[in-house]
Amino acid sequence: MDKKTIFSGVQPSGNITLGNYLGAIKNWVRFQEDYNCIYAMMDMHAITVRQNPQELRKRTLDLLKIYISCGIDPEKSLLFVQSQVSEHAQLAWVLNCYTYMGELSRMTQFKDKSSKHADNINAGLFTYPVLMAADILLYQADFVPVGKDQMQHIEITRDIAERFNSIYCKEGNPVFKVPEGLLAKSGAKVMSLTEPTKKMSKSDENPKAYISVLDDFSVIANKIKSAVTDSEGKIEYRPDDAEKAGINNLITIMAAVTGSTEAKIAEEFCGKGYGDFKKAVAEAVVEEIRPIRERYDELSKSKDYLEQICRSGREGAEKISAKTLGKVYKKLGFLV
Ligand code: TYM
Repeated sequence: MDKKTIFSGVQPSGNITLGNYLGAIKNWVRFQEDYNCIYAMMDMHAITVRQNPQELRKRTLDLLKIYISCGIDPEKSLLFVQSQVSEHAQLAWVLNCYTYMGELSRMTQFKDKSSKHADNINAGLFTYPVLMAADILLYQADFVPVGKDQMQHIEITRDIAERFNSIYCKEGNPVFKVPEGLLAKSGAKVMSLTEPTKKMSKSDENPKAYISVLDDFSVIANKIKSAVTDSEGKIEYRPDDAEKAGINNLITIMAAVTGSTEAKIAEEFCGKGYGDFKKAVAEAVVEEIRPIRERYDELSKSKDYLEQICRSGREGAEKISAKTLGKVYKKLGFLV
């Protein structure tokens, strides 16, 4: 039987956080045995906010190093840089013509980002979910493992795919597979350490709000130690209680890192003080990140190897995406 396809990616737009790792990358690893996995560095999405060119270039390769260090095996998964495969921009244009302004105006990420970057509310920021739909649909992905914040974009991807199929493929044989989003059991929404009702974000101005997978271990421990909690002093998991947002978040992080559940962690630490709990969370996070860092440092010596992965990834991605784009162009009536 043919293997199903998984597609996902991260933007190289800042420090890769524990949220990106627990909500996305960590989960990608286990799919590699049973699925065709395609993971990309989404640099075209990153330019919806201003980037420094040297930094973007460096971060794109750093992100590839992070993928591999986290356990993504270039022998098993297809890894490529989004901007190197022109079909993404080409399909995005087509899909723009099948997406409504009203749909895009409802995207919470657009509302968030446009309020944060009020001086640069560009059209790319608005049509960003269309490019994301193109990314996914080009590869006929069955599943897209992402964090909770991206689920709305998967929903619009499904809507766009269904709309296109229903216009052009009435007789069956749809051009696009309609993908499903996949959420991690724990860690699908890791919260900020300083404002635990907000999601942990790599673009947060306050570095204490997030843990970067490249932070020094002592920095990680200190950030967790100073994470905002509450004055109740009880380690209880109450996901609907905003007062417990800080503790809920630490419990979730512990569950995701150790592969346990929130209920078991809360039970294990019941009656303990916040100080002891934070120490245990910090140790677990550091132990999770330690081998990633070792591999990351090792890969820093192998620029040629990384560029080789990008080259062969690009070839593989072009082959698959050109096939889908060809079908789309034919349906539209473009001369092919
Ligand atoms: P990005 O770069 O913001 O985030 C990458 C992945 O990390 C997840 N994530 C989180 N998960 C849990 N807790 C958090 N605090 C947290 N913050 C981020 C995101 O949900 C995501 O899975 N538009 C996407 C990149 C993208 C993409 C795609 C993803 C472009 N095209 C096609 C999948 C398929 C983004 O900006 O993710």
